[in-house]
Amino acid sequence: MITKVTTQQKAPLYDALIGFKEKRIVPFDVPGHKRGRGNPELLHFLGQKTLSVDVNSMKPLDNLCHPVSVIKEAEDIAAQAFKAKAAFFMVGGTTSAVQAMVFATTKRGEEIILPRNVHRSVINALVLNGAIPVYVNPDVDERLGIALGMSLKQVEEAIQEHPHAKAIFVNNPTYYGVCSDLKGIVELAHEAGMKVLADEAHGAHFYFGEHMPISAMEAGADYAAVSMHKSGGSLTQSSFLLMGDSVNADYVRQIVNLTQTTSASYLLMASLDLSRRHLALDGEAIFSQVVSFTQYVREELTKIGGYYVFGEDLINGDSIYTMDPTKLSIHTLDIGLAGIEVYDLLRDEYDIQIEFGDLGNILAYVSVGDRERDIERLVGALVDIKRRFSKEKRNLLRQEYIEPIVAYSPQEAFYRTKRSVLLEEAIGKASTEFVMCYPPGIPIVAPGEMITEPIVQYIQYAKEKGCQLTGTEDLDVLKINIMEDEHGMLV
Ligand SMILES: Cc1ncc(COP(=O)(O)O)c(C=O)c1O
Repeated sequence: MITKVTTQQKAPLYDALIGFKEKRIVPFDVPGHKRGRGNPELLHFLGQKTLSVDVNSMKPLDNLCHPVSVIKEAEDIAAQAFKAKAAFFMVGGTTSAVQAMVFATTKRGEEIILPRNVHRSVINALVLNGAIPVYVNPDVDERLGIALGMSLKQVEEAIQEHPHAKAIFVNNPTYYGVCSDLKGIVELAHEAGMKVLADEAHGAHFYFGEHMPISAMEAGADYAAVSMHKSGGSLTQSSFLLMGDSVNADYVRQIVNLTQTTSASYLLMASLDLSRRHLALDGEAIFSQVVSFTQYVREELTKIGGYYVFGEDLINGDSIYTMDPTKLSIHTLDIGLAGIEVYDLLRDEYDIQIEFGDLGNILAYVSVGDRERDIERLVGALVDIKRRFSKEKRNLLRQEYIEPIVAYSPQEAFYRTKRSVLLEEAIGKASTEFVMCYPPGIPIVAPGEMITEPIVQYIQYAKEKGCQLTGTEDLDVLKINIMEDEHGMLV
């Protein structure tokens, strides 16, 4: 019987790599470890199978910077799987895909409309290219203290006030799973001649699961940055850049090549090829299992009380247009513990590592690799934490989002002369750097923004509670760089 091989059953880059390995070609090229022989400890650590395919570009394996054969074919198949006009393998994480989207659509001095609760990679891209952010402050859920999506009205107003902006940037979804009305935003943007860039770092499964929020490509967005390494199951640092009908992908490749390595890892690329195949063939079943896991945890925790597992109940048809059903986002303040405290307890007392905890909530990532017994263990640990550690709910801060006061563009602030001062002395001054808890990596303050008393209090409280603060030159985050004018005066 002849069985038909559908396009999505193919994995051309992976196949080429296996074919190459079987040929046992003698390496007089880089990498210098020569299939691991030059580094026995590394070989022992990662194994022969891994190091024998840690190779460099060559004719039979194509070249990511100028793909014409197996990489091109694998990218075309990925584009088909994601219903995009074009897809690129990205080996610099979703950060590199975010940069590519921003650089392809904006230049120095041009405006880009975006919510302020974006990942630092977005504002970093603006530091690099000098585009000007126009922030749409997201709605905030008072109980949870989290920033939501953008409402259509807010986007419409931003477009009216900034009709020459080049692009609108949208989180699809936010870290907690909140989705804006992406289709509505695309319509507004396209009417105004603006491109839509979607950050789908947490949305790879939207393309493969059933009953998921709309994906960026389906909504008609022009670009999407997709972390296959998050919910998609590929190796850390591997992502996709997707492009829609309006985009000249060959031009975008030139943009990507401005910053992309010329030694792309075949381990990362093969993992993209294989995980795309896996999800294209089995994604519906995989993500329906994921949703049933999260649903189970929600029901169990709701029964015991104390925790609030938030999700579709929050939908308001606007700034929470839909919610990602795979996200396990849990509000913890009602048991008297900050999210970060529950996050630490899970690791230190129960050997469970979750994605993150902030002041009021935790997020456990449930994905392609989860098993029933691990889900049971998580539920058991949370029940036990409530029993052993819950406290009276006192003096707990919930606010996760402080509306920024933007005084300078990120690029102008970042490159200005600066002075390092203690955080408390920085109140009323403009920052030249970021401060954020990582994860989630959403800036509390970004270059060009004023440092205020609530910001300093927030940072100090987050530190006290055990959040991992990052972003400043000072690794202890006691000091922050603030702007000076040409006369050395603080501004
Ligand atoms: C919303 C969002 N965008 C972009 C990124 C950057 O992704 P990467 O770490 O793959 O560079 C992240 C990382 O966590 C993220 O959460």
